[in-house]
Amino acid sequence: MKTEILKLLKGQDGYLSGQDLCDHLGVSRTAVWKIIKQLQKEGYRIEAVRSKGYHLVETADVMTEAELQSCMEAGWIGRVLQYYDEIDSTNTKAKQLAETGAPAGMLIVADSQLSGRGRRGRNWLSPHGTGIFLSLLLRPQIAPSCASMLTLVAALAVTKGIEEVTGLDAKIKWPNDIVMDGKKLCGILTEMSAELDDIHYVVIGIGMNVNHEEFEGELVKTATSLLLQAKRPVKRSLLIAAIMKAFAWYYDQFIKTEDLSLLLEEYETKLVNKEREVMVLKPSESYRGTCKGINQLGELLVQHEDETVEAVVSGEVSVRGIYGYV
Ligand code: BTN
Repeated sequence: MKTEILKLLKGQDGYLSGQDLCDHLGVSRTAVWKIIKQLQKEGYRIEAVRSKGYHLVETADVMTEAELQSCMEAGWIGRVLQYYDEIDSTNTKAKQLAETGAPAGMLIVADSQLSGRGRRGRNWLSPHGTGIFLSLLLRPQIAPSCASMLTLVAALAVTKGIEEVTGLDAKIKWPNDIVMDGKKLCGILTEMSAELDDIHYVVIGIGMNVNHEEFEGELVKTATSLLLQAKRPVKRSLLIAAIMKAFAWYYDQFIKTEDLSLLLEEYETKLVNKEREVMVLKPSESYRGTCKGINQLGELLVQHEDETVEAVVSGEVSVRGIYGYV
């Protein structure tokens, strides 16, 4: 009922009468009032005027399950949604739930993580009240070798969501970082459980710096947030909903061909590495080259000095800019 009341208040420019709310929901005025009180406690500014009803004044960056649900588009993504104020890691939780039969599209969102995980065994700092920490469960019927392309699909969805909510033009540092102003804004951790020819599930974890006012230590040089870029706070619930809506669309395109051929052109407009010098670091060797884009399998095309082009597979390598992080 809380989600319903939020949706109704959000859809109303002015005041919504208590009676209208009661009629719509088929509950008493006392029940409505109780929920309004709860919402006010959670941080919503709701004006209650005896003769007019209730009016939701522009909300702060509230994150609750009802808030998230009231923003999400109807569809298979986020139909099952779990929200936690604090959790060890949303990816770990999503994997546990996947093992016990949770459905594709399940979304786990947390306000903070105690053991947020990044790529290559690194930690992902996840303090309260500032970032987006989410994991999306997928059960795609594709070859396990195609699953790494889902990171690129997710990266496109993140840039689209950011553009829609903030107007900012975020770029993708292949394969799993979103960057702005030469600094990292968001990281994606894709994990999979599969047999040789069958995927059990894929979990896409997204960690984004949203309302961080500053960073400490090493991160000062390499990290940024949407607040620092947009010079205003951003509502995380709206951003999550926009990213998931975009993901649903890009995922449909990907599933049609089981590769990135329908997304390649758009991806390359977002690819920060394109036409830049990159350093490819393999376990066995490293070399410099010029990034020429990606192919339809999502591999990075790197041109050597002798003009031959090598397709670099994600996972095996790390790609760095020559003059800094990007
Ligand atoms: C990276 O190393 O850049 C990837 C970072 C991914 C962090 C996210 S936060 C939500 C999800 N849960 C985790 O434990 N990790 C991912």
